[in-house]
Amino acid sequence: MCGITAYCGNHSALPFLMQGLSKLEYRGYDSAGVTILQNNKLITVKCKGRLKNLEEKVSHYQFDGSIGIGHTRWATHGIPSNLNSHPHNNSLNTISLVHNGIIENYRELKNELIDKGYTFQSDTDSEVVVQLLDYYYNGQLLEATQKVLKRIEGSYALCIISTLEPDKIIVAKKESPLIIGKSKDAFVVASDIPALLEYTKDVYFLDDFEMAMITKNDISFFTHEGKSIQKELTTVPYDTEAAKKDGYDTFMLKEIHEQPYVIHETLRGRIFNQQIILDELKDISFEQFNKIYFVACGTAYHASLCGAQVLERITQLPVLATVASEFRYNDPIIDDKTLTIFVSQSGETADTLAALKLAKQKQATTIAIANVLGSSISREADYVLYTCAGPEIAVASTKAYTTQLVLLILLAYYVAQRLNKEIDYQAIEQLESIPHYVEQILKDENIFQEYALMLKNLHDAYFIGRSLDYASVLEGALKLKEVSYIHADAYVAGELKHGPIALIENGSVVIAVATQPHIATKTISNIQETIARGAKVILFTTSHEDIKNIDNVYYLPQVSPTLQSILVAIPLQLIAYYTACIKGCDVDKPRNLAKSVTVE
Ligand code: F6R
Repeated sequence: MCGITAYCGNHSALPFLMQGLSKLEYRGYDSAGVTILQNNKLITVKCKGRLKNLEEKVSHYQFDGSIGIGHTRWATHGIPSNLNSHPHNNSLNTISLVHNGIIENYRELKNELIDKGYTFQSDTDSEVVVQLLDYYYNGQLLEATQKVLKRIEGSYALCIISTLEPDKIIVAKKESPLIIGKSKDAFVVASDIPALLEYTKDVYFLDDFEMAMITKNDISFFTHEGKSIQKELTTVPYDTEAAKKDGYDTFMLKEIHEQPYVIHETLRGRIFNQQIILDELKDISFEQFNKIYFVACGTAYHASLCGAQVLERITQLPVLATVASEFRYNDPIIDDKTLTIFVSQSGETADTLAALKLAKQKQATTIAIANVLGSSISREADYVLYTCAGPEIAVASTKAYTTQLVLLILLAYYVAQRLNKEIDYQAIEQLESIPHYVEQILKDENIFQEYALMLKNLHDAYFIGRSLDYASVLEGALKLKEVSYIHADAYVAGELKHGPIALIENGSVVIAVATQPHIATKTISNIQETIARGAKVILFTTSHEDIKNIDNVYYLPQVSPTLQSILVAIPLQLIAYYTACIKGCDVDKPRNLAKSVTVE
């Protein structure tokens, strides 16, 4: 996830820019850069790799300019490289900018500018913005920026400096955070609060479609249309640690609440006119495969179980989801006609990595679905798709899981498209609204907090579901046991009477998921069997049929059954979270667990 810093004040800009970038390192990046405006010249220094590479490079300059911008980049368009790093400058080197977000219509704009004679240095979407600024500049940087904002689609936090108006920074925001701090002798800008805190706690939060013009003594705010607006200065009550949590008590809660945004980021640029765009896979000819394997561990395995079912329905090929530690030792029957998909948040899980190496030895085609850019699994696989969850710090996976689900569903529709299979266009359309539905569910947090009260004194909890809902309940049970230390097991609802129902007694709590219409009534009748034996039930469903005697029913939004696993994950995460909080557990660092399991 990219980071932005900018400084306009009475002192040298570089120290603020560098300390700010280092405070944002925890968000992940693959390259970094700064531009300093000095002696009416823009001096840009940028490079691939860690901040210490940039520090080494800037140490060769005598920087004392008091206006500057800085950036850490997490590659989305264009590989990590010196040229693709920010800042980006126009060819006359009179304008420089940093950008967070994605310009969705950059290809059209780039072609338009190439036709007008512009040349491009990088593969990034962001460079289009600086070239457009050059094109529209007519003596007023603010006005040129407004013209550019009318042309670009997508998300952005932008900071722009120019030798043509060397006293100012122009900033603009849409769907990507940007905060302006006011210190004694400077205005400082960043994409996240931790970067500002050493300098000030007094900040302006820029809202979507707002922009600001900053000089060292003054700031004015405008809408993107140029209408002047007033903004209130707010004092943030955080220290640096709390700021990293955006004011939430824990990383886990912060990450649960980030899901609408990171799902949106994972979808961004990947659906266009109901077509799925996964250019990373364009060289694969999917007709060659007669079998598909998903391989992963833990939560990523649960996402894989869901991905496998969806892909199997669509392709009508045998698709299996397997735990990596089993796959690697069970001599799987795979060859050059097998597609193998390795799902991992960290991209470093030892078993998944070993399974991937085995698949390659056996000539299978390998795709990695990873969150951490440049991780071992993403480097080892033939092809990579990235979830855009950003750094996941809490040990229990939440936002990585839902973004994996989103990407696996996209992948399934992409394969269907490439194989000319029938496609559920309604589901594709609804997929784009999933962030909105997740937001809606998050508003019901207090309901899930109440459900947590039902669990707090238990030793065991039971989760049941069928079909895709079985993958969801496996994940729900894993979350509960990981963070609250309550023993939880998930069962295929149809298996209850083959054994587990013997455990149900007065006061048992059963959490049931019934979102798949073809099988929901069956699960609901299994629920009745547990109620008859004294269980208290919490049901997540979309079905209004046969719901009687069930005290706690939460109705999920009516979207395609294929997408329900994404939605139901949210309440199940929150139930686990609040149960753990009530019990006083360390939710971000549960005992005995590591974030990345790099040993067998
Ligand atoms: C559970 C959890 C783990 C991981 C598993 C795989 O909340 O986080 O079960 O999902 O260790 O890790 P990755 O996805 O990094 O391969």
